[in-house]
Amino acid sequence: MPSQDPKLTSPSALRNRGPIADLLRHVLPDSGTVLEIASGSGEHVIHFASLFPHLVWQPSDPSPQARASTLHWVQAEALGNVLPPLDIDASSQTWPIERADAMIAINMVHISPWPATQGLLKAAGKLLPAGGILVLYGPYRRQGRPLEPSNAEFDASLRARNPEWGIRLLEDVARAAEPAGLAMTSVTEMPANNLGVVFTRQ
Ligand SMILES: C[S@@+](CC[C@H](N)C(=O)[O-])C[C@H]1O[C@@H](n2cnc3c(N)ncnc32)[C@H](O)[C@@H]1O
Repeated sequence: MPSQDPKLTSPSALRNRGPIADLLRHVLPDSGTVLEIASGSGEHVIHFASLFPHLVWQPSDPSPQARASTLHWVQAEALGNVLPPLDIDASSQTWPIERADAMIAINMVHISPWPATQGLLKAAGKLLPAGGILVLYGPYRRQGRPLEPSNAEFDASLRARNPEWGIRLLEDVARAAEPAGLAMTSVTEMPANNLGVVFTRQ
């Protein structure tokens, strides 16, 4: 039987990685390690690692398939600035890493239970230095505004798949970040009704 290619591919990752890179360009540090939570296929991290070669990239995902895919993409692209993916469940109390100079999480907050977002924010507060940034990308609700029709449909489909999933209220995420010492410092409108949200460690 022919063996299956372990490299996964995500059409949305290929569409949004350019606009996300444009946002990252303005906020990433000049040096250090960027920890990615929920790396998925690994196509974001290989793209960012080639665009920002002065940084070391640390992918992670709780899914063994995602980690295998990421590892194979890194090997296929022969990138020297990407570390082997870590097994990190954002809701876990213990993370196998002690510091990061920046963190990113793309399309995770709405496709995981709320404790994963709480865990991500708490860990960012511990791992990041003062001035370090956490960038979240994905769809969000905004206080006092109806969801765009495409996001309302997406939200219903997420909740049908798992009642613990769903598009979060951005103000709830910002409030949950405060005790971790993270302030929401910018919100950027991104294509397809997504937001790029930057938190800065105070
Ligand atoms: C929609 S995919 C996004 C993958 C990738 N970031 C992208 O945008 O293509 C959601 C990812 O979140 C990961 N995930 C789900 N629950 C998680 C958790 N509790 N902690 C960390 N990652 C989680 C999944 O394994 C999956 O890879």
